[in-house]
Amino acid sequence: MKRPRIVVLERIDASGLRRLSTFSDVERAWGLGSADQLVRASKADAIVVKGSVRVDRTFMVACRRLRVVGRAGTGLDNIDVEAARRLAIKVLSVPTGNSQSAAEFAVLSMLRLLRCTDRAQAMAKSGDFRRHRLEGRELAQATVGLVGFGNVGRRVATILRGFGSKVLAYDPALPDPQLFVAFGVERATSLEGLLRRADVVSLHATLNSSSVGLIGRTQFRMMRRGALLVNTARGPLVDARALIEALDNGRVAMAALDVIEPEPPFDMPPDQHRFNHPLLDHEKIVVTPHMAASTRDAQKRIARNLADMIRSHFMELRPIAR
Ligand code: MLT
Repeated sequence: MKRPRIVVLERIDASGLRRLSTFSDVERAWGLGSADQLVRASKADAIVVKGSVRVDRTFMVACRRLRVVGRAGTGLDNIDVEAARRLAIKVLSVPTGNSQSAAEFAVLSMLRLLRCTDRAQAMAKSGDFRRHRLEGRELAQATVGLVGFGNVGRRVATILRGFGSKVLAYDPALPDPQLFVAFGVERATSLEGLLRRADVVSLHATLNSSSVGLIGRTQFRMMRRGALLVNTARGPLVDARALIEALDNGRVAMAALDVIEPEPPFDMPPDQHRFNHPLLDHEKIVVTPHMAASTRDAQKRIARNLADMIRSHFMELRPIAR
């Protein structure tokens, strides 16, 4: 019986590619424009993507052989899961594979803002060592508000317990207060209630049609003056214009953004694109390229687990030729 053909449209860890190769013919096809992605995917039994390739209904309909979409990560916002279901295409993902990495990065981002380390680095490199200009604040004294209390939010809460921070969390999908108690967290019953009290607001919500613009002008007005914002979840959760306004008028002191919308080209060297974004230039924003999950540990775990899941799926459908 023929081996399945798997087209990998976004870079994954080499160990996962090797594992895929044990039962399938693998094509590495990352760094392509959307037209080329579709050409490659149309010849595939399975594709592997991360968060950048948009796998919508039109895309899947055009890929007549497609039986599996493997998402090497957590979020499924770039995949039309319902259309996939109707087309009998299986969507596989590794929802907790990078939660710890993402949580650690969120806490790192809080510390970067609280301790002004980015400014300190720039000053020191330019010969300015006036540390009195770099006085920060302790995470232990901060009230941290987590918007979204899923796999990542809970791990952030666990890490923050070690720092001694006061942690509030808001997640309307989780009505059971006991869950919050179990993590030593106070459940906020409204987003407003959280925003009015938090010194640091950290976003861990899922992106869907009702969470786009979750933090907009109205929400920024509810925040404490001088609050800090960390977004390691998804760019569209925050209204970019409203954020710039809030930074300019001092409502928000600083923001750390690991995600912006649109996302930059992750697999292209800088001389091959002209990506620009208003949030990149703002002096009160520190930006990273959606790298919260980018640890060797998480990427290996995800690539290998996903390869195993794809293999199992094809084995259930039919015996794999060796
Ligand atoms: C995820 O959803 O897994 C993370 O945001 C990282 C990624 O998109 O690859």
